[in-house]
Amino acid sequence: MTKEEDLDDQEAQRKQFYLETADMRKGWYPVFPVGEISSKKPTAFHLLGDPIVLYRDPVTLEAVALADICAHRSAPLSTGAILEGKLECKYHGWQYDTEGTVVKVPSLMDGRKIPANAKARSYPLVESDGYIWLWPGNPEDINSAPTPNFHHLYPQLDFPPRLEYFDLDIDASLLLENFLDPSHLPFTHTGTIGKRADATPMRMAMNFTRDQVSGIPDTPHAPHLPFTEFIFFPPSSIGLKIFTKEKNSYGEQGFYVIPTTKGHCRFVILQRFTFFHTFSQIPIFSWVMDRIISRMNYKILMEDYEMLKGQQRRLLHGANAMKSPVAADTLIKAYRNWWRVAIKKKPWFSGYDSDIEDIVLDDYRGSC
Ligand code: FES
Repeated sequence: MTKEEDLDDQEAQRKQFYLETADMRKGWYPVFPVGEISSKKPTAFHLLGDPIVLYRDPVTLEAVALADICAHRSAPLSTGAILEGKLECKYHGWQYDTEGTVVKVPSLMDGRKIPANAKARSYPLVESDGYIWLWPGNPEDINSAPTPNFHHLYPQLDFPPRLEYFDLDIDASLLLENFLDPSHLPFTHTGTIGKRADATPMRMAMNFTRDQVSGIPDTPHAPHLPFTEFIFFPPSSIGLKIFTKEKNSYGEQGFYVIPTTKGHCRFVILQRFTFFHTFSQIPIFSWVMDRIISRMNYKILMEDYEMLKGQQRRLLHGANAMKSPVAADTLIKAYRNWWRVAIKKKPWFSGYDSDIEDIVLDDYRGSC
């Protein structure tokens, strides 16, 4: 391929990437480790602002995800209980089956039928690689999406990654952006994963395909630095591959940033380090190493948190998320452009457009 053909091909891939992937609702999101959802009590969660309740059918033990909004008067179903194999709303005791259909209304007079629209939305769900994955979009689009698992981050999954999650009051877009930003490491993370001495001029070697965009920092003045590839897989995951100078991989990390509500996210981290795998064969070492890595993850995350929380406050008051980009920011820019396309499709829950006072007041006025 000539250089011109190569450029044309990249441009075509870039356009295709934005066209085909910029839909936050078209994707599987890993939301809970499978062991955290039980048949004993329902669990509340938000995905793209949608209130969702998760539980397990006590008979089949299959996980269920329904809209956390009672079909009667919109009370949260997650405050209810699982009784007689059904999810029961705590307000007036309406009961739901696993499809979200109301099957019992205790106050209904004999001979009266349950209202035909008495149903809570059911969310497609899959259990895979130790996590429960939710699909917040149109179920008809599922067939065109990749199977939900962590393998796209670890094509050679020869041993399971270490997994944990954190809930943060940071918008998912800011955290995703932060993970695509190599030039902050020597400053924000001095003393943990960064060194000021490693700060160096850089540009990003970009590569678009129809379903992902990646960047490799090109640091001509610092050839000793590890070779790292950052990959954004829309709508919510990032793969990070770190190679030694000889290009033998020594670590891979995967980040899922789940947009829960605006300004908040759940961050799922996957780590696949050869040294950790060696330790994990001995249970006590595995436990100790796990604690050490978890503490380290939290420390590093809090270093980012300080920047991102401050940034978020400023953005809320109208500041610009991409005011003066430089060459090192090219991958962030590609993400922010993707986000701009995606946000135009209004991915956030739009069930509550008004403040609660307006809703209650409107209702009150309406009844006069
Ligand atoms: Fe749920 Fe009435 S609001 S039963």
